[in-house]
Amino acid sequence: MCGIVGYVGSRDATPLLVSGLRRLEYRGYDSAGVAVQEDGQLEVRRAEGKLDNLVQVIAQKPVSGTSGIGHTRWATHGRPSEHNAHPHVDCGAVTAVIHNGIIENFEELKVPLLRAGHRFTSETDTEVVVHMLEDELKQGRSLEEAALRVVPRLEGAAALAFVSAKDPGKIVAARVSNAGGVIVGYGKGENHLASDIPALLEHTRTVSFVEPGEFAVITANEVRFLGRDGRPVEKSRTTITWDPVTAAKAGYKHFMLKEIHEQPRVLSDTLLGRVDRGSGRVIFDEDVRIADEQVRRLQRITLLGCGTAGYAALAGKYLIERLARIPCDVEIPSEYRYRDPVVTQDQLVVALTQSGETVDTLAAIDEARKGGARVLAIVNAMGSQASRVADDVIYLHAGPEISVASTKAYTTMLADLYLLAVFLGQRRGTFDQGAAGKLLAELFHLPTLVDAVLAEEPKVKALAYRYHQSKDFLYLGRGINYPTALEGAHKLKELSYSHAEGAAAGEMKHGINALIDESLPVVAIALQDGTYRKMVSNIQEVRARAGTVIALANDDDEDIGQHASDVIRIPRTNDLLSPILAVVPLHLFAYHVADRRGNDVDQPRNLAKAVTVE
Ligand code: AGP
Repeated sequence: MCGIVGYVGSRDATPLLVSGLRRLEYRGYDSAGVAVQEDGQLEVRRAEGKLDNLVQVIAQKPVSGTSGIGHTRWATHGRPSEHNAHPHVDCGAVTAVIHNGIIENFEELKVPLLRAGHRFTSETDTEVVVHMLEDELKQGRSLEEAALRVVPRLEGAAALAFVSAKDPGKIVAARVSNAGGVIVGYGKGENHLASDIPALLEHTRTVSFVEPGEFAVITANEVRFLGRDGRPVEKSRTTITWDPVTAAKAGYKHFMLKEIHEQPRVLSDTLLGRVDRGSGRVIFDEDVRIADEQVRRLQRITLLGCGTAGYAALAGKYLIERLARIPCDVEIPSEYRYRDPVVTQDQLVVALTQSGETVDTLAAIDEARKGGARVLAIVNAMGSQASRVADDVIYLHAGPEISVASTKAYTTMLADLYLLAVFLGQRRGTFDQGAAGKLLAELFHLPTLVDAVLAEEPKVKALAYRYHQSKDFLYLGRGINYPTALEGAHKLKELSYSHAEGAAAGEMKHGINALIDESLPVVAIALQDGTYRKMVSNIQEVRARAGTVIALANDDDEDIGQHASDVIRIPRTNDLLSPILAVVPLHLFAYHVADRRGNDVDQPRNLAKAVTVE
């Protein structure tokens, strides 16, 4: 997730672009850059790392002009560095592009450009676009005509903006798919562009939203919108009433709620480009280098992660054992690092971490590498320590997660683990191509189903308000939703400060039953998979002891209502994917209980987002 801004008018563009980027820095801080039109020339300034580094670069080599574009980067293709920073320019440095999203077919598009002699200076997927534009502009086309010819050839997700010294005083913006916003803000004798409202609010509250497939042609005195076919599109204007703080949270009360609602989009980002169209095989970025032969020789996989990442690791065991038939064990990094574990060379260690900086996870990675195991890190933060020390890296592409309580990183970890399980199974031949196609089709349908789960939020909120005073909670699950029960309890503890315990429902008779009485709400995950009947028996045991049951059940389960006091419903999907859907209402439940209690949801007491000390 990156941030884009643009300005055309009569004021000095540079400080306006920088202040817009400041408001978008939450979207990425791997690098930042601006391209400003100055005396018929295009001047670019870029810097690796946070925006302050760019500010220093500009202070050393000032640039001013009355139009320009700016970008703050969350790296996807190409490591965080100055040369991978946006804006990217063409061979003559007269045209520049900024981009949020992923261009899936960039490698294919690059081949003819290289053949034609274009010089590439970055490892990004974005740079192809500016060289394609260069060819079109050479034919004497305007910037929007060139964009209309180039953008339809891009596959994937993209929000783009272009400026060119060949067509000065103009920004052309385009939105390729649902990923990434493109918003135009109207001023007097000037106009603005941004990927999010916070970057516009200090200048204007009147905006228009560019929809997927549309283009905006922005000059100081006019904004035109075009469709894919180049025909004008009528656009309405919206007045934004948010205050600046609300705006940074995109109108949500807390970052956590915003991040929960981002899940359909970030799950799509996670899945983008991960299946080879020709072979139907799962493929990862160039950061996964493990050879097929080594995959076939693997004897064991160890998955590790702390807290929520650890529950994802446990779900990963179920996924990999079921789909790839490789024995897996799950380790708590703070235990693993100190207990002299048995590590072998035919073992793969999969380390899960949102931040990539969790100290125990990093130490466990070291321990595994010392023993000769190959380490694959599943990470959100690009350029983080875990991504640098691992042999292979799979990125979550979840965008910055700001709330201490991890939500979208958990579901994208589950999606990546599912892809990894299919990847391993395909290489070891544990299922045929037909079965793989079905498994992947179900995965790709998930963002739509998560959307449907989110639509049920008012019911979950009502339940949270009903139970918010309870002092203890029990979460029960079986099979692949046992980790979901652990995660549901974890999130409730972390946010509400109530005691909550997650357990495998089959363990109840071995001690947990003693806790049950009328004051204990029991959240039972009872989906219609192979564990359903057993879960219903467990629910009945709770009811027989006067316990209160909140069942998490499938939409089409007509019987569950007679066993439970309350029911939360989610759509049906493949049972291995159900944890991605099931955890969403549990996260919402924890959020609303905590909010109802007046707790600091985004920064719960005694916790930190990245645990970098022991
Ligand atoms: C989740 O809500 C927690 N705040 C916490 O358990 C977190 O998942 C854990 O600290 C691991 O962090 P990481 O993914 O950045 O390594």
